[in-house]
Amino acid sequence: MQFDSKIYKTFSEEETYELGRNFSKNLKPGDTISLEGDLGTGKTALTKGIAAGLDISEPITSPTFTLVNTYEGRVTLHHFDVYRTEDAEELLAIGWDEYLDGEAVTIVEWGDRIPELLPDDTIYIRLERDDTMPDGRTIAIERRVGL
Ligand SMILES: Nc1ncnc2c1ncn2[C@@H]1O[C@H](COP(=O)(O)OP(=O)(O)OP(=O)(O)O)[C@@H](O)[C@H]1O
Ligand SMILES: [Mg+2]
Repeated sequence: MQFDSKIYKTFSEEETYELGRNFSKNLKPGDTISLEGDLGTGKTALTKGIAAGLDISEPITSPTFTLVNTYEGRVTLHHFDVYRTEDAEELLAIGWDEYLDGEAVTIVEWGDRIPELLPDDTIYIRLERDDTMPDGRTIAIERRVGL
């Protein structure tokens, strides 16, 4: 399997947001993004930037308890947070397949908890703290090529 991988560094929440906003220009309907990284690494901050880039004006709130929030922009966005469920059945029961086969962009915070549910062409974004800087983050964006 071949991956195209890009690595970014950000040094504030605003920079992570801007990275998301720029990144969203490459997105097309049907794309799925898995956000992976420890608590507080910036998954939701990045999602807010992506949403802004999709012309979503509604404020993005973490769907930790609701599992998914949907927003309308120039492209519809489904924002999942599966921190509290590693149970694929629960996601399938709320219509996971219908969310993913549509014309929307889908973002899944903690997607690494449900690897079996992610499509082959998922874009993986991994966020890590960079301990050499107080607010530093290393953000790796990986997508499979040659699908
Ligand atoms: N470079 C950075 N990028 C993003 N957030 C940063 C950065 N530096 C510091 N922060 C802070 O880290 C926190 C990131 O919060 P955020 O909710 O986006 O994380 P998260 O990965 O979604 O967490 P959770 O796992 O709880 O969902 C915020 O308080 C933000 O201000
Ligand atoms: Mg979050």
